[in-house]
Amino acid sequence: MTSGATVTQSTVTKKQTAVTVPFVDLKAQYEAIRSEVRAAIDRVLERGDFILGDAVRQFEAEFTAFCGVKFAIGVSSGTEAIRLALEACGAQEGEVITVANTYVGTVEAIVQAKATPVLVDVSSRNYNMDLDCLERAITPKTRAIVPVHLYGQPVDMDPLLEIARRHKLIVIEDACQAHGARYKGRRAGSLADMGCFSFYPSKNLGAYGDGGLITTDNPEYASKLNLLRNHGEKVKYEHVIQGSTSRLDTLQAAILRIKLARLDGWNALRRSHAQYYTQELKKLGIAGPIEEPWAESVYHLYVITVPDREALRRYLSQQGIQSGIHYPIPTGRTNYFPSYVCGA
Ligand SMILES: Cc1ncc(COP(=O)(O)O)c(C=O)c1O
Repeated sequence: MTSGATVTQSTVTKKQTAVTVPFVDLKAQYEAIRSEVRAAIDRVLERGDFILGDAVRQFEAEFTAFCGVKFAIGVSSGTEAIRLALEACGAQEGEVITVANTYVGTVEAIVQAKATPVLVDVSSRNYNMDLDCLERAITPKTRAIVPVHLYGQPVDMDPLLEIARRHKLIVIEDACQAHGARYKGRRAGSLADMGCFSFYPSKNLGAYGDGGLITTDNPEYASKLNLLRNHGEKVKYEHVIQGSTSRLDTLQAAILRIKLARLDGWNALRRSHAQYYTQELKKLGIAGPIEEPWAESVYHLYVITVPDREALRRYLSQQGIQSGIHYPIPTGRTNYFPSYVCGA
Protein backbone atom coordinates (compact mmCIF):
# COMPACT_ATOMS: atom_id res chain seq x y z
CA MET A 1 0.00 0.00 0.00
CA THR A 2 2.75 2.45 0.84
CA SER A 3 3.98 2.49 -2.75
CA GLY A 4 0.72 4.02 -4.04
CA ALA A 5 0.89 7.19 -6.11
CA THR A 6 -2.15 9.19 -7.04
CA VAL A 7 -2.31 10.79 -10.43
CA THR A 8 -4.40 13.89 -10.88
CA GLN A 9 -7.85 13.77 -12.47
CA SER A 10 -7.97 17.44 -13.29
CA THR A 11 -7.85 19.17 -16.62
CA VAL A 12 -4.65 19.94 -18.50
CA THR A 13 -3.70 23.61 -18.63
CA LYS A 14 -1.03 25.07 -20.93
CA LYS A 15 1.59 27.39 -19.42
CA GLN A 16 3.67 28.81 -22.30
CA THR A 17 5.50 25.69 -23.58
CA ALA A 18 5.25 23.52 -20.43
CA VAL A 19 2.13 21.46 -19.85
CA THR A 20 1.04 21.56 -16.23
CA VAL A 21 -1.42 19.11 -14.75
CA PRO A 22 -2.34 20.37 -11.29
CA PHE A 23 -3.63 17.86 -8.76
CA VAL A 24 -6.89 19.75 -8.49
CA ASP A 25 -8.07 22.71 -10.54
CA LEU A 26 -11.03 24.25 -8.75
CA LYS A 27 -10.74 27.50 -10.66
CA ALA A 28 -11.40 25.78 -14.00
CA GLN A 29 -14.58 24.27 -12.55
CA TYR A 30 -15.63 27.62 -11.12
CA GLU A 31 -15.29 29.30 -14.52
CA ALA A 32 -17.94 26.90 -15.88
CA ILE A 33 -20.51 27.74 -13.20
CA ARG A 34 -19.50 31.27 -12.17
CA SER A 35 -22.71 33.14 -13.07
CA GLU A 36 -25.01 30.53 -11.49
CA VAL A 37 -22.92 30.47 -8.29
CA ARG A 38 -22.90 34.24 -7.97
CA ALA A 39 -26.66 34.43 -8.48
CA ALA A 40 -27.24 31.70 -5.89
CA ILE A 41 -25.01 33.43 -3.33
CA ASP A 42 -26.80 36.68 -4.00
CA ARG A 43 -30.19 35.04 -3.38
CA VAL A 44 -29.04 33.81 0.03
CA LEU A 45 -27.62 37.23 0.91
CA GLU A 46 -30.91 38.86 -0.09
CA ARG A 47 -32.99 36.40 1.93
CA GLY A 48 -30.64 36.45 4.91
CA ASP A 49 -31.57 32.90 5.93
CA PHE A 50 -27.98 31.91 6.71
CA ILE A 51 -28.73 29.20 9.28
CA LEU A 52 -30.68 26.15 8.07
CA GLY A 53 -32.17 28.28 5.31
CA ASP A 54 -34.19 27.40 2.25
CA ALA A 55 -31.19 26.21 0.23
CA VAL A 56 -30.30 23.64 2.92
CA ARG A 57 -33.80 22.13 2.73
CA GLN A 58 -33.73 22.14 -1.08
CA PHE A 59 -30.27 20.60 -1.25
CA GLU A 60 -31.24 17.90 1.25
CA ALA A 61 -34.34 17.06 -0.82
CA GLU A 62 -32.29 16.91 -4.02
CA PHE A 63 -29.63 14.75 -2.37
CA THR A 64 -32.22 12.23 -1.13
CA ALA A 65 -33.50 11.89 -4.72
CA PHE A 66 -29.94 11.62 -6.04
CA CYS A 67 -29.02 8.86 -3.58
CA GLY A 68 -32.35 7.06 -3.50
CA VAL A 69 -32.85 7.44 0.27
CA LYS A 70 -35.64 8.84 2.44
CA PHE A 71 -33.67 11.39 4.49
CA ALA A 72 -30.61 13.61 4.10
CA ILE A 73 -29.32 15.80 6.93
CA GLY A 74 -26.81 18.51 6.02
CA VAL A 75 -23.99 18.97 8.55
CA SER A 76 -20.78 20.95 8.88
CA SER A 77 -18.19 18.40 7.62
CA GLY A 78 -17.61 14.77 6.77
CA THR A 79 -15.96 14.17 10.12
CA GLU A 80 -19.00 15.62 11.90
CA ALA A 81 -21.27 13.46 9.72
CA ILE A 82 -19.56 10.30 11.00
CA ARG A 83 -19.45 11.51 14.61
CA LEU A 84 -23.14 12.44 14.62
CA ALA A 85 -24.16 9.21 12.85
CA LEU A 86 -22.37 7.20 15.56
CA GLU A 87 -24.09 9.23 18.27
CA ALA A 88 -27.50 8.94 16.62
CA CYS A 89 -27.36 5.14 16.71
CA GLY A 90 -25.86 4.96 20.20
CA ALA A 91 -22.52 3.42 19.18
CA GLN A 92 -20.64 5.27 21.92
CA GLU A 93 -18.97 3.28 24.69
CA GLY A 94 -18.31 0.40 22.32
CA GLU A 95 -15.82 -0.54 19.64
CA VAL A 96 -16.22 0.71 16.08
CA ILE A 97 -14.36 -1.07 13.29
CA THR A 98 -12.98 0.84 10.34
CA VAL A 99 -9.90 0.67 8.12
CA ALA A 100 -6.33 1.77 8.86
CA ASN A 101 -5.92 3.16 5.35
CA THR A 102 -8.33 6.10 5.35
CA TYR A 103 -8.29 9.82 5.87
CA VAL A 104 -7.71 10.63 9.54
CA GLY A 105 -11.23 12.15 9.83
CA THR A 106 -12.88 8.70 9.87
CA VAL A 107 -10.97 7.71 13.01
CA GLU A 108 -11.16 11.15 14.64
CA ALA A 109 -14.95 10.97 14.39
CA ILE A 110 -15.03 7.62 16.18
CA VAL A 111 -12.84 8.95 19.00
CA GLN A 112 -14.90 12.16 19.23
CA ALA A 113 -18.08 10.05 19.52
CA LYS A 114 -16.42 8.45 22.58
CA ALA A 115 -16.18 5.04 20.95
CA THR A 116 -13.00 2.98 20.56
CA PRO A 117 -11.67 2.70 17.01
CA VAL A 118 -10.52 -0.72 15.88
CA LEU A 119 -8.59 -0.54 12.64
CA VAL A 120 -8.41 -3.37 10.14
CA ASP A 121 -6.31 -3.75 7.03
CA VAL A 122 -7.48 -3.21 3.46
CA SER A 123 -7.33 -5.59 0.52
CA SER A 124 -4.26 -5.08 -1.65
CA ARG A 125 -6.51 -5.76 -4.66
CA ASN A 126 -9.06 -2.95 -4.30
CA TYR A 127 -7.78 -1.01 -1.24
CA ASN A 128 -11.08 -1.43 0.59
CA MET A 129 -11.84 -3.17 3.89
CA ASP A 130 -10.53 -6.75 4.08
CA LEU A 131 -13.62 -8.70 5.17
CA ASP A 132 -11.62 -11.58 6.70
CA CYS A 133 -9.88 -9.05 8.94
CA LEU A 134 -13.26 -7.53 9.75
CA GLU A 135 -14.64 -10.87 11.02
CA ARG A 136 -11.54 -11.45 13.13
CA ALA A 137 -11.75 -7.99 14.70
CA ILE A 138 -15.35 -8.37 15.96
CA THR A 139 -15.65 -8.75 19.75
CA PRO A 140 -18.59 -8.65 22.19
CA LYS A 141 -17.86 -4.90 22.55
CA THR A 142 -18.23 -4.13 18.82
CA ARG A 143 -21.18 -1.82 18.09
CA ALA A 144 -20.67 -0.61 14.55
CA ILE A 145 -18.68 -0.96 11.33
CA VAL A 146 -17.61 2.04 9.24
CA PRO A 147 -16.58 0.78 5.79
CA VAL A 148 -14.85 3.46 3.70
CA HIS A 149 -15.54 3.57 -0.05
CA LEU A 150 -11.94 4.56 -0.61
CA TYR A 151 -10.87 6.52 -3.70
CA GLY A 152 -14.48 6.41 -4.98
CA GLN A 153 -14.96 2.63 -5.26
CA PRO A 154 -17.69 1.05 -3.09
CA VAL A 155 -16.82 -1.72 -0.66
CA ASP A 156 -18.36 -5.15 -1.41
CA MET A 157 -21.35 -4.39 0.81
CA ASP A 158 -23.47 -7.58 0.55
CA PRO A 159 -20.99 -9.87 2.38
CA LEU A 160 -20.15 -7.03 4.78
CA LEU A 161 -23.86 -6.52 5.62
CA GLU A 162 -24.26 -10.27 6.08
CA ILE A 163 -21.44 -10.23 8.67
CA ALA A 164 -23.03 -7.20 10.34
CA ARG A 165 -26.45 -8.87 10.49
CA ARG A 166 -24.97 -12.01 12.02
CA HIS A 167 -23.29 -9.98 14.78
CA LYS A 168 -26.15 -7.42 15.10
CA LEU A 169 -23.92 -4.49 14.21
CA ILE A 170 -24.82 -1.10 12.78
CA VAL A 171 -23.16 -0.17 9.49
CA ILE A 172 -22.31 3.44 8.63
CA GLU A 173 -20.83 4.04 5.18
CA ASP A 174 -18.00 6.52 4.95
CA ALA A 175 -18.92 7.77 1.47
CA CYS A 176 -16.78 10.91 1.82
CA GLN A 177 -14.90 9.99 -1.37
CA ALA A 178 -17.78 8.32 -3.21
CA HIS A 179 -20.45 10.87 -4.18
CA GLY A 180 -22.48 9.23 -6.94
CA ALA A 181 -20.59 5.91 -6.94
CA ARG A 182 -22.73 2.80 -7.37
CA TYR A 183 -22.72 -0.67 -5.83
CA LYS A 184 -24.69 -3.17 -7.96
CA GLY A 185 -26.59 -0.20 -9.38
CA ARG A 186 -27.36 1.47 -6.03
CA ARG A 187 -25.71 4.68 -4.88
CA ALA A 188 -23.10 4.83 -2.14
CA GLY A 189 -24.86 6.27 0.88
CA SER A 190 -28.00 4.16 0.31
CA LEU A 191 -26.45 0.79 1.14
CA ALA A 192 -26.46 0.59 4.96
CA ASP A 193 -27.99 2.15 8.09
CA MET A 194 -26.47 5.56 7.37
CA GLY A 195 -24.12 7.13 4.81
CA CYS A 196 -21.73 9.99 5.48
CA PHE A 197 -20.48 12.52 2.93
CA SER A 198 -17.88 15.29 3.00
CA PHE A 199 -18.12 18.37 0.80
CA TYR A 200 -14.50 19.41 1.35
CA PRO A 201 -13.69 21.62 -1.69
CA SER A 202 -11.64 19.04 -3.62
CA LYS A 203 -14.23 16.25 -3.34
CA ASN A 204 -16.17 15.13 -6.44
CA LEU A 205 -18.98 17.22 -4.95
CA GLY A 206 -17.17 20.01 -3.14
CA ALA A 207 -18.37 23.16 -1.42
CA TYR A 208 -16.48 26.46 -1.22
CA GLY A 209 -15.65 25.71 2.39
CA ASP A 210 -16.50 22.83 4.71
CA GLY A 211 -19.69 20.81 4.61
CA GLY A 212 -21.07 17.32 5.07
CA LEU A 213 -24.27 15.27 5.01
CA ILE A 214 -25.79 12.07 6.38
CA THR A 215 -28.20 9.87 4.43
CA THR A 216 -30.57 7.34 5.98
CA ASP A 217 -33.89 5.57 5.48
CA ASN A 218 -34.45 5.38 9.24
CA PRO A 219 -36.84 8.10 10.54
CA GLU A 220 -35.58 7.76 14.12
CA TYR A 221 -31.97 8.35 13.12
CA ALA A 222 -33.07 11.24 10.90
CA SER A 223 -34.95 13.06 13.66
CA LYS A 224 -32.12 12.48 16.16
CA LEU A 225 -29.59 13.82 13.64
CA ASN A 226 -31.73 16.90 13.05
CA LEU A 227 -31.55 17.59 16.80
CA LEU A 228 -27.88 16.70 17.26
CA ARG A 229 -26.64 19.03 14.51
CA ASN A 230 -28.50 22.01 15.99
CA HIS A 231 -27.97 22.15 19.77
CA GLY A 232 -30.64 19.53 20.38
CA GLU A 233 -33.23 22.19 19.54
CA LYS A 234 -36.74 20.89 18.85
CA VAL A 235 -38.45 24.27 18.63
CA LYS A 236 -36.80 27.65 19.22
CA TYR A 237 -34.95 27.57 22.57
CA GLU A 238 -36.35 24.18 23.53
CA HIS A 239 -33.27 21.94 23.73
CA VAL A 240 -34.31 18.36 24.30
CA ILE A 241 -30.90 16.67 23.99
CA GLN A 242 -27.31 17.85 24.02
CA GLY A 243 -26.20 18.78 20.51
CA SER A 244 -23.68 21.04 18.82
CA THR A 245 -23.23 23.70 16.13
CA SER A 246 -22.89 21.21 13.30
CA ARG A 247 -25.24 22.50 10.59
CA LEU A 248 -24.59 22.72 6.86
CA ASP A 249 -24.14 26.39 5.97
CA THR A 250 -26.91 27.84 3.76
CA LEU A 251 -24.43 29.51 1.39
CA GLN A 252 -22.62 26.20 0.90
CA ALA A 253 -25.92 24.39 0.30
CA ALA A 254 -26.85 26.95 -2.38
CA ILE A 255 -23.51 26.31 -4.15
CA LEU A 256 -23.78 22.54 -3.73
CA ARG A 257 -27.20 22.51 -5.44
CA ILE A 258 -25.60 23.88 -8.59
CA LYS A 259 -22.81 21.33 -8.50
CA LEU A 260 -25.09 18.37 -7.66
CA ALA A 261 -27.00 18.97 -10.90
CA ARG A 262 -23.72 18.42 -12.79
CA LEU A 263 -22.22 15.65 -10.67
CA ASP A 264 -23.18 12.67 -12.84
CA GLY A 265 -21.65 14.38 -15.88
CA TRP A 266 -18.45 15.25 -14.02
CA ASN A 267 -18.18 11.70 -12.66
CA ALA A 268 -18.64 10.27 -16.16
CA LEU A 269 -15.72 12.43 -17.31
CA ARG A 270 -13.56 11.17 -14.43
CA ARG A 271 -14.44 7.61 -15.39
CA SER A 272 -13.42 8.15 -18.99
CA HIS A 273 -10.14 9.84 -17.91
CA ALA A 274 -9.48 6.87 -15.62
CA GLN A 275 -10.09 4.43 -18.47
CA TYR A 276 -7.62 6.36 -20.61
CA TYR A 277 -4.95 6.32 -17.86
CA THR A 278 -5.43 2.57 -17.35
CA GLN A 279 -5.17 1.84 -21.05
CA GLU A 280 -1.99 3.91 -21.44
CA LEU A 281 -0.35 2.64 -18.23
CA LYS A 282 -0.96 -0.92 -19.39
CA LYS A 283 1.30 -0.26 -22.37
CA LEU A 284 4.07 0.53 -19.84
CA GLY A 285 3.40 -2.65 -17.87
CA ILE A 286 1.79 -0.73 -14.97
CA ALA A 287 -1.58 -1.94 -13.71
CA GLY A 288 -4.25 0.67 -13.05
CA PRO A 289 -6.77 0.37 -10.20
CA ILE A 290 -9.05 -2.67 -10.43
CA GLU A 291 -12.72 -1.79 -10.83
CA GLU A 292 -14.58 -4.65 -9.19
CA PRO A 293 -17.59 -6.18 -11.00
CA TRP A 294 -19.96 -4.86 -8.30
CA ALA A 295 -18.64 -1.31 -8.48
CA GLU A 296 -19.03 1.81 -10.54
CA SER A 297 -16.20 3.90 -9.13
CA VAL A 298 -16.24 7.69 -9.34
CA TYR A 299 -12.43 7.86 -9.17
CA HIS A 300 -12.14 10.53 -6.52
CA LEU A 301 -8.51 9.47 -6.68
CA TYR A 302 -6.71 7.37 -9.27
CA VAL A 303 -4.25 5.33 -7.22
CA ILE A 304 -1.63 2.97 -8.60
CA THR A 305 1.15 0.95 -6.98
CA VAL A 306 4.61 0.92 -8.53
CA PRO A 307 7.95 -0.56 -7.43
CA ASP A 308 9.76 2.80 -7.25
CA ARG A 309 7.26 5.43 -6.20
CA GLU A 310 9.70 8.26 -5.65
CA ALA A 311 11.32 7.83 -9.09
CA LEU A 312 7.87 7.96 -10.72
CA ARG A 313 6.88 11.03 -8.73
CA ARG A 314 10.13 12.76 -9.68
CA TYR A 315 9.52 11.96 -13.35
CA LEU A 316 5.91 13.19 -13.20
CA SER A 317 7.02 16.35 -11.47
CA GLN A 318 9.61 17.01 -14.21
CA GLN A 319 6.76 16.73 -16.73
CA GLY A 320 4.70 19.25 -14.73
CA ILE A 321 2.27 16.60 -13.46
CA GLN A 322 1.39 16.74 -9.79
CA SER A 323 0.77 13.58 -7.77
CA GLY A 324 0.08 12.72 -4.14
CA ILE A 325 0.30 9.82 -1.69
CA HIS A 326 -2.94 8.61 -0.18
CA TYR A 327 -1.99 8.08 2.59
CA PRO A 328 1.65 8.28 3.67
CA ILE A 329 0.97 7.19 7.27
CA PRO A 330 -1.83 4.70 8.04
CA THR A 331 -4.03 6.13 10.80
CA GLY A 332 -3.12 3.22 13.11
CA ARG A 333 0.49 4.37 13.06
CA THR A 334 -0.24 7.90 14.24
CA ASN A 335 0.76 8.19 17.87
CA TYR A 336 -2.52 9.68 19.05
CA PHE A 337 -4.71 6.75 17.91
CA PRO A 338 -3.36 3.81 19.89
CA SER A 339 -5.48 1.17 18.20
CA TYR A 340 -5.46 -2.48 17.46
CA VAL A 341 -4.74 -3.12 13.80
CA CYS A 342 -5.77 -6.44 12.36
CA GLY A 343 -3.69 -7.74 9.47
CA ALA A 344 -0.90 -5.18 9.75
C1 LIG B 1 -12.62 8.92 3.62
C2 LIG B 1 -12.84 10.21 4.32
N1 LIG B 1 -13.48 10.20 5.52
C3 LIG B 1 -13.70 11.34 6.20
C4 LIG B 1 -13.33 12.56 5.70
C5 LIG B 1 -13.56 13.79 6.53
O1 LIG B 1 -14.28 14.78 5.85
P1 LIG B 1 -14.09 16.32 6.26
O2 LIG B 1 -12.73 16.73 5.80
O3 LIG B 1 -15.18 17.01 5.51
O4 LIG B 1 -14.25 16.42 7.72
C6 LIG B 1 -12.69 12.62 4.45
C7 LIG B 1 -12.30 13.91 3.89
O5 LIG B 1 -11.25 14.17 3.42
C8 LIG B 1 -12.43 11.42 3.75
O6 LIG B 1 -11.79 11.43 2.58
